[in-house]
Amino acid sequence: MSTTGKDRKKETVAQGELARAEFRERLGRWYRENARTLPWRGVDDAYATWLSEVMLQQTRVATVIERYTEFLERFPTVQALAAAEESAVLARWSGLGYYRRARMLHRGAKFVVEELGGVMPRTAAELRALPGVGEYTAAAIASIAFGESVAVLDGNVERVLLRVLGEGEEKTSAARKRLMLVAQALMPTTSRRDENAAGEHNQAMMELGATVCVPRGPLCLQCPVMELCRTRGEHATAKRAEMRRRRVAHLLQRRARSGVTEVLLERRATDASLMSGMLELPPLTLDAVEGCEPLLKVKHAITNTNYEVEVFEQASLRSEIVAAKSALVWVAMDTLYEVPLTGLARKVLKKVGVMSR
Ligand code: ADE
Repeated sequence: MSTTGKDRKKETVAQGELARAEFRERLGRWYRENARTLPWRGVDDAYATWLSEVMLQQTRVATVIERYTEFLERFPTVQALAAAEESAVLARWSGLGYYRRARMLHRGAKFVVEELGGVMPRTAAELRALPGVGEYTAAAIASIAFGESVAVLDGNVERVLLRVLGEGEEKTSAARKRLMLVAQALMPTTSRRDENAAGEHNQAMMELGATVCVPRGPLCLQCPVMELCRTRGEHATAKRAEMRRRRVAHLLQRRARSGVTEVLLERRATDASLMSGMLELPPLTLDAVEGCEPLLKVKHAITNTNYEVEVFEQASLRSEIVAAKSALVWVAMDTLYEVPLTGLARKVLKKVGVMSR
């Protein structure tokens, strides 16, 4: 009996499916045994899932753990967030960086309340209509909160897939589309909400990338899918932008008013490309601080720049503030938690003991 081309094709498809099922099963078992306990896991609230996924996009898990819970305490529902002032939202975002995310989340919450009667959409396609919700966030919310079988493809998942396939990184939209198809083909299709196979699978892929299949020095011996992987080790990656170094200076001025410590802050221009409208310690030029001894030096990284920050407290430097007087405000110590501070200002104020968190 001769096998036809059609039969052979069927066989290949069947083998592919078996391999995918095996991948899914091994990954799932590993995830159930090894998943980190994180505050947003096992939460049945699409708004909370949305918040955690937005926070996690450009921020380390350790930082998000702390801030996620605080944010939810202050804005426990999509209604509470929609009703808040933007400055209060930014205040709770302080230190997480990429503040546009917070502004868009706030706009998204208003949209849900004002246009959708406060009810979150349940599918990735509908979630995409929310301001600030892109392909990744929509897929994450739809799968984790509503069990939709739609794949997420973040940096971690991309790396896992490329290594399993034995391919190098390629930053083109065609390559991304292809990986998206591969990720989708790996998805479980059961739609039983109580098991939420889709949400668990997506989180397992991300977890594997975050804890085992890490960018440098992957822990292949701990990997549940090592036998199915064509790379087993690091893969070829595109060159990363080099970090720049920049020295900057800021002024720290404190005063006591009726027994309360106040700090002098400067509001960044509303049209500034970064952190517009947020409050920071007044910047000084390097010329102005020439020959002055800093109170404190801190390192601070923003996107691809490593800042070497020097903080001065000499009162004589007050006259060196470049900004207009109208941009300066004295803020009482206990109010600092309610205003939109930049992450750097918060870091410095914590170091000098003016803030405790
Ligand atoms: N990274 C971003 N979201 C995640 C999630 N839900 N689980 C694991 N890693 C993540």
